[in-house]
Amino acid sequence: MAILKVARLGNPVLRNPAREVSVERLAQPDFQRLIDDMVTTMREYQGVGLAAVQVHEPIQVAVLEVADNARYPGKAPLPLSVLVNPEIVPLGDETEEDWEGCLSIPEIRGRVPRYSSLRVTALDRHGNELDFVASGFHARVIQHEVDHLRGHVYLDRMPDLSTLTYLTELSRYWTDR
Ligand code: NI
Repeated sequence: MAILKVARLGNPVLRNPAREVSVERLAQPDFQRLIDDMVTTMREYQGVGLAAVQVHEPIQVAVLEVADNARYPGKAPLPLSVLVNPEIVPLGDETEEDWEGCLSIPEIRGRVPRYSSLRVTALDRHGNELDFVASGFHARVIQHEVDHLRGHVYLDRMPDLSTLTYLTELSRYWTDR
């Protein structure tokens, strides 16, 4: 398995909507290898999610996992999941604000409002249909990854850019938030 190069902010691949994946494509070995490599890459850089566009593949695939992550201390664990062609619908208008970061925007965090609860439909890596409700941090990560697949980054979702901070300054000045 390989650690893939992660595209950084400014690379146009992050700004183009990703294509849907066909079920036939899912079955191909190179596609399954791409998913394995995305998982390896996410873990290597201690991400809680990674979208295929971030590794220069403009297709609708995202992986997510929270497992005692040093970049996101105190977050409830989330088993590894693979979302193919995900669609989300907010359940209600309730939103919550929290810090967010992105492997394509290194060393920076900002406060981002996200829907508290979502219905998620997608395929798994084998083409099985998924249909579930996500809430809290899980819902946040999914909204962040689905945004990537639509050509958006979390900066686009910030109503107030004054909370943008480098990690060093986050621990120094914002620890009470
Ligand atoms: Ni990201």
